[in-house]
This record gives sequence, structure tokens and C-alpha cells, in this order.
Amino acid sequence: MSGASGAGPSGTEVWVRSAGGAYPVMVHPGLRRRLPELLRRHAPGHRYALISDSNVAPLYGIEALEACRETGLRADLFTFPAGEAQKTRAEWSSLTDCLLEAGVGRDGVVVAVGGGVTGDLAGFVAATYLRGIPVVQVPTSVVAMVDASVGGKTGLDVPAGKNLVGAFHPPKLVLIDPETVGTLLRQERAEGLAEALKHGAIVDRGYFTELEARSQALLSGDAGATYAAVVRSVEIKTDIVSADEREGGLRQILNFGHTLGHALEAAASYRIGHGTAVSAGMVLEARLGERIGITEGGTARRIEASLAGFGLGRSTLAQSEVETALRYLSADKKSREGGTRFVLLARLGEVSEGEGWSHRVPLKVVEEVLRGAADAK
Ligand SMILES: NC(=O)c1ccc[n+]([C@@H]2O[C@H](COP(=O)([O-])OP(=O)(O)OC[C@H]3O[C@@H](n4cnc5c(N)ncnc54)[C@H](O)[C@@H]3O)[C@@H](O)[C@H]2O)c1
Ligand SMILES: [Zn+2]
Repeated sequence: MSGASGAGPSGTEVWVRSAGGAYPVMVHPGLRRRLPELLRRHAPGHRYALISDSNVAPLYGIEALEACRETGLRADLFTFPAGEAQKTRAEWSSLTDCLLEAGVGRDGVVVAVGGGVTGDLAGFVAATYLRGIPVVQVPTSVVAMVDASVGGKTGLDVPAGKNLVGAFHPPKLVLIDPETVGTLLRQERAEGLAEALKHGAIVDRGYFTELEARSQALLSGDAGATYAAVVRSVEIKTDIVSADEREGGLRQILNFGHTLGHALEAAASYRIGHGTAVSAGMVLEARLGERIGITEGGTARRIEASLAGFGLGRSTLAQSEVETALRYLSADKKSREGGTRFVLLARLGEVSEGEGWSHRVPLKVVEEVLRGAADAK
């Protein structure tokens, strides 16, 4: 489904089809050193506005800035404080003002160097600045490499919820250097690997098994193991978003584990990581599928065991989490009326097509599964 994809001595190149024009995702250890040359080729501009958060700037932002300047590109680095709490209108406003003050014009290009927060925020700055200028994504976290940098979604969190204000703004280039995960915290790597396991669970059982077998290398940030996983995840995400960029149908399968995952995240007031929440969500949604006869028996246990190898398994939920998650789900009007829609697996590595790639599950069944997972204490 994706465009040309291939591996050569300088890495793997996967092309994503997009309404705004196809763009390449390039993956190779050490690739960040070729940033200036690749910017010239895929995102020519008069000025480059590099955007990084306060953690990534000293690690890779300054290095990228210097590399650009050394090769004669006109570049500046704009930094914002790290963390999801900064993915706000206030930070968007401050960054756009900084770009205006620096005189970045319509021939400017935004280069997001960082994790998913940087990608989403800088992407939204690019989408809106002077009615839209190009963006290049240089993801440095596992989440951003396997998920956030591909597909063109950008945006912000607002008081009413996460990612509720945003735009589709596909990048001109995604440049992934798997070596950069070496400086991430182990827990941050695990959180991102949950999304890679999700890719395996929805479309590629062999990939799921491979990830499982290489858990320790992946958790320790081994560049070779990370490279292989990022390439496969990028191929999977590319196939899906190339077929359905605007999430009219197939793209929804990427939400496996996310309906309950989001409810649990909200129930924990976002004190648990997204990957941890999605992991619990994948196990519970597999249980839900088994319970209504859509998912092959034993799938939930299999997923749970693999997640445990990544430190992401959770056999029980706190009673209070279950209650809050149920309140969160039943607050949704659509859920109250006919049940919540879930992406369900037919078996490990295959989503059940259902009605437009999801199934309606009565709230009562969701409640039983969630209560069944509650800590007996
Ligand atoms: N647009 C999409 O399609 C999409 C998909 C998935 C997630 N997201 C978004 O991504 C965000 C989560 O991404 P994230 O987990 O990367 O968050 P993040 O950007 O906050 O990165 C996590 C932490 O790791 C640090 N970091 C990043 N790369 C590093 C490196 N190489 N070395 C050391 N530290 C590093 C960051 O400074 C931060 O403290 C969420 O806001 C989520 O909504 C977007
Ligand atoms: Zn996710």
C-alpha cells in the first residue's frame, strides 16, 4: 500500500502517500549527521527554524543547528520547556511570536527535533505560521519514531482534553536516527515500545514475536534492535496512513488499546504514561473481544505476558481507577446510547473488520471486563 520502500547502505527509505504530496521517512543509525544535505534536497528553504525542548536542545538541537550553519544554511534554534504540560496554546503562541520576531518568512521551514510533544507542537506552529510553512520531523524518542512523526497529525492539549486543537500538516521529510534513543530514560523507551507492540498486534504477528524476543536489547536502547523495530513500525504505520490519511476508516485500527487506555489515563489524571495505559488497554480490549466472541481465546493472556517482558504488564487495576474509567466512558453520550465502539482483534496480528473496523460493545460488558480486572482488595 505504501509507495516505494527500500533499504540501502544509507538506510531505509519509506514513502508515505499524502494529499499534500508523498514524503520520505528515512531511517538509519547516524542519519542525523546528514540533516543539512537532506534538508537541502527534500525541504529547500531560505531559513530553518529548528524547534527543540529543553532536554533535547543540548543533546541534539544545538548539534543540528551547528551542522546546518557549518554547511551554509541559515538556521536558528527555538527552545521551549520540556514536557506534555507545555503542549499548549501558550507555548504555540510564544513560539510563533519568536519566529515572527526573528523574521522567518514564507520561505522558512520548521524542523522539529525532539519527542512527540515537540513534533506535535512544532508541527502545529508550522501548520499555522503565515498560514502554513513546511515542517520536517526529526523524532528523537521511541514514541515519536514509531508513531507521532508519521501521518501528519499535529496539535495541542487544551483544558477540555488532549490533542483537541490541531491540524493535519504532513511533513516534507521524516529523518530518524535510532542512535538518539540511547539518551532516553529506559521507561520512556518502554512507553514507546508499547505502540510498536500495538503495530504487531494489529497487523503482524511475526513482528510482535520478534519484539518480544528482543525486549532486553530494545529496552536498553540498542541502536540495531531499535533500527529494525522502527523500520517495521514505520512501514506498518505508512501503509495504514497512506490508505486513509484522514482517519475515515482503516486508520482507526491504530486506536487498538486506546479507547480503554485513554479512559485509564484520564482516570489516573495522566500520572501514568501513555504507553502504560495503552498496554493495559490492549489487554482489556482483547479480553472484551474474547468475551463477545470476536477475539480468539488466549489472545489477552498472550499480549499480557509479552507486555510484562517490557515492564508494561499490569494484572490488576485499582478499584478507584475502574470506577473513574467507567464514569469517563459513560459520560460519553454515544456510549450511553448504544455501547462504545472498539477496535477488536480477530487474533494476534489481525484486526476484526467489524463495521468500519470497529465493534459496538454494550457498556454493561465493558463494565464487567473492567470490574473483573479490579484489584480484589
Ligand atoms: N501526532 C501523532 O500522530 C502522535 C502519535 C502519538 C503520540 N503523539 C504525541 O506525542 C507525545 C508523546 O511523545 P513523547 O513520549 O516522545 O513525549 P516527549 O516529547 O515529551 O518526550 C518524552 C521525554 O523524553 C525527552 N526526550 C525526547 N527525546 C530524547 C532523547 N533522545 N534523549 C533524551 N531525552 C529525550 C523529552 O524531553 C521528554 O522529557 C504526546 O503529546 C502525544 O499526544 C502524537
Ligand atoms: Zn498511542
